[in-house]
Amino acid sequence: MCTFTKNWLIIAGIVMCLCAKYNCQCTGGADCTSCTAACTGCGNCPNAHTCTGSKNCVRATTCTGSTNCNRATTCTNSKDCFEATTCTGSSNCYTARTCTNSTNCYKATACTNSTGCPGH
Ligand SMILES: *[C@@H]1O[C@H](CO)[C@@H](O)[C@H](O)[C@H]1NC(C)=O
Ligand SMILES: *[C@@H]1O[C@H](CO)[C@@H](O)[C@H](O)[C@H]1NC(C)=O
Repeated sequence: MCTFTKNWLIIAGIVMCLCAKYNCQCTGGADCTSCTAACTGCGNCPNAHTCTGSKNCVRATTCTGSTNCNRATTCTNSKDCFEATTCTGSSNCYTARTCTNSTNCYKATACTNSTGCPGH
């Protein structure tokens, strides 16, 4: 039992080291599921913190030119920015305070060239 646990920890350690070294496929390609850092030009980035030109960025906090940015706080030229506080050139900015060139800014207090803004 003790030996098993020890071996498992070593294997986990090696995998983590490899991920750090090779960035766990954060750039290009169709699937960057293993990437937890910054995704660039990737077709599927469900675990990345930062997305640039990527898709399915459901956990990203910052999105640029990306899609499915459901939890991003800052969106630039991105889509599905449902919880963003700042949106620029983005869509579905339901909770954004500041919107520029964006859509569905239902709660925005500062709106420039955007749609859905209260009082407009
Ligand atoms: C407003 O936004 C639309 C759509 O993004 C864009 O085509 C247009 O040029 C923008 N106008 C200004 C004044 O920013
Ligand atoms: C808004 O869109 C217009 C036209 O596309 C662009 O000129 C302007 O720089 C955009 N504003 C921002 C803050 O990106």
